[in-house]
Amino acid sequence: MTASPLRILAIANQKGGVGKTTTAINLATALAAVGEQVLLIDLDPQGNASTGLGIRAADRGVTTYDVLGGDYRLEAAVTDTDIPGLALAPAGVDLACAEVELIDADRRHYRLADAIDEYRQSAGGDPVSYVLIDCPPSLSLLTVNALAAANAVIIPLQCEFFALKA
Ligand SMILES: Nc1ncnc2c1ncn2[C@@H]1O[C@H](COP(=O)(O)OP(=O)(O)OP(=O)(O)O)[C@@H](O)[C@H]1O
Ligand SMILES: [Mg+2]
Repeated sequence: MTASPLRILAIANQKGGVGKTTTAINLATALAAVGEQVLLIDLDPQGNASTGLGIRAADRGVTTYDVLGGDYRLEAAVTDTDIPGLALAPAGVDLACAEVELIDADRRHYRLADAIDEYRQSAGGDPVSYVLIDCPPSLSLLTVNALAAANAVIIPLQCEFFALKA
């Protein structure tokens, strides 16, 4: 059987509390349960996906903040979870500073895309079959990085007007 091609899915909506993180965790877990190798990238300073997957703030070593800043490669942030086949690149509250710190940085919109490319190249192929990116509730540089890296976007929303507008 040939390996499935890598799919990179951003889960985004600038409206808060619409189920982005819940979708990210459950979809990642379901894909892992059917045998896919999945990396969930937490790109929200709230770190809800990291907490939801049982990685406490004190146990988050290298985070997506370090990766976007160029201090570490993505593979240094990747950590196993209790779910077989599901790995996580965690986020911490320091990620809230990335927007300001990267304001004049080269390729600031492509930091995550470049890190994922490097991750694939250093593994000599696709280390996972799915990358899911949990976005913050804003159209910030973080979300733009996720959209620039993704093949497709999942937009969860509640059935109410403001969530639809967002
Ligand atoms: N499909 C669903 N049906 C009902 N409630 C849900 C569903 N998905 C998520 N929720 C609930 O909605 C709330 C917000 O979910 P979640 O944290 O996943 O949203 P979010 O979009 O990631 O929020 P934020 O914008 O703060 O990151 C949680 O209490 C969650 O349990
Ligand atoms: Mg969330």
